[in-house]
Amino acid sequence: MDLLQFVRGCTFDDFLLTPQLGVVPSRDPSTIDLTTRFTSRVPLRRPIVSANMDTITRAAMASVLAEEGGIGVIDRGFRTGDIAPQVAEISAVKRTQHGIITDPHTIDEHGRIADARRLMDHTGVGTLVVIDARRRLQGLLTERDIRFVPATTGVAERMTPRDRLVVHTGTISLADAEHLMTRQKIKKLPLVNPDGTVLGLITAKDLVKHRDHPFATRDSRGRLQVAAAVGATGDFLERAIEVHNAGADVIVIDIAHGHSLVMDQAIQRLRHRLGSVELVAGNVATSDGARFLLDRGVDAIKVGIGPGGGCTTRLTTNFGVPQVEALVQCRLAVGDRVPLIADGGVKRDGSVAEAFLFGGDTVMLGSAFAGTEETPGETVLKPVLMPESQKIVRVPFKVFRGMASIGAVRDRLDLEDAGARELEALGAEGLEVSVPARGPVRAVIHDMLKHLCSAISYGGAESLADLRTKFWSNPEQYLVRLSRAARAESFER
Ligand code: XMP
Repeated sequence: MDLLQFVRGCTFDDFLLTPQLGVVPSRDPSTIDLTTRFTSRVPLRRPIVSANMDTITRAAMASVLAEEGGIGVIDRGFRTGDIAPQVAEISAVKRTQHGIITDPHTIDEHGRIADARRLMDHTGVGTLVVIDARRRLQGLLTERDIRFVPATTGVAERMTPRDRLVVHTGTISLADAEHLMTRQKIKKLPLVNPDGTVLGLITAKDLVKHRDHPFATRDSRGRLQVAAAVGATGDFLERAIEVHNAGADVIVIDIAHGHSLVMDQAIQRLRHRLGSVELVAGNVATSDGARFLLDRGVDAIKVGIGPGGGCTTRLTTNFGVPQVEALVQCRLAVGDRVPLIADGGVKRDGSVAEAFLFGGDTVMLGSAFAGTEETPGETVLKPVLMPESQKIVRVPFKVFRGMASIGAVRDRLDLEDAGARELEALGAEGLEVSVPARGPVRAVIHDMLKHLCSAISYGGAESLADLRTKFWSNPEQYLVRLSRAARAESFER
């Protein structure tokens, strides 16, 4: 079968997949391998990515995504030149949990309680490592040690001194640390070098988080991983350098038309300054576009021109490629040399499996997460007429908007005073809508993963990777192109 010919002009709702002999004993997501790649060097245990949109991904969303085994991309929807807010979001994700804290907050043994209080307030940490002038461990000082204590009291008077602490010399695995801390009934384990200088700190709180989220996407220091979006012009280079310094694990150059000379320049400049940083670029939707980015050495390619829920590009320009065709074109162009991110157009969980089958290694979601607790923005109560009772009830809503919507562009460019004409001249390519406020995003992700595992079972595969291998080795066995009536039977409820 010529797969590309078969899917020309088609998108998710054009197909069903034929059920095959099921081989997995259970559809439980904790037992089915969903491992994939976000970028060349960032594997994920779950193929889910939250979109870099200012009504979707900030620290709260990105932290949950990483805890659940996916990753979030913090948007660049802050005013041009105003880089600190994005840096703060990245830092917040990196601070939520650790393995070994290699740079714990420290205080000098000759300090005062007032200094300790100030440092605890400023950093939000409850335990300070007390050191001497040569950074040798002298003790630990916790919030409890300084409660109700006069500000002028010396730190050394209140700390638990080193000879009363359990201390480990050298580095240690988290499993061994947990063992030791359980045996010794301690909540904090300082690590020191043989000369007594501080090497790190392990806390029971972090170990519990590791246990609670076994699939989490973590860096080599046990912190959650997070990506950050930048543009291709303006402050993009400075922004990329700062978010990278703040700990962003992946930089995403995200522009509407990624197959462009502007992108070429941006990649070159970014590589020149940041060397081998994990770099995603997009968006493209054609084999030429994908090859263009592959040739420029990116570590993943974002695919999708116009399928997004908040997007009006196709309406306003008539350019775009139906998302399934776009994915197949890009996959055929790059093979397995670079992962693809299927970005946009997923309106129901069934399309997650399709996005993966047709070529995505991960699926980027915007509107699917809209309205959840972790999305940024206010919840507002709006009066709604209930059709059955004809009563008006007040329903909580949140705003979801395309990043090229007039509202998002106005906020980003600081155009508070711009008139309607000037805004129109910006050529908005996005919608702004109110969506009902929902509960935590974790529940949405869990449902999605359960449905993905069911799809693997129906597809006769053992794992996500196996499903795709089976599909690509014989797409004919799977693909059913739908008639209009079949589409209505399948998706209209
Ligand atoms: P979903 O369908 O998951 O798509 O909401 C999310 C993706 O939509 C894209 N996006 C836009 N595309 N104009 C566009 O042409 C916009 O204003 C816009 N905002 C978001 C983006 O790729 C996102 O990841």
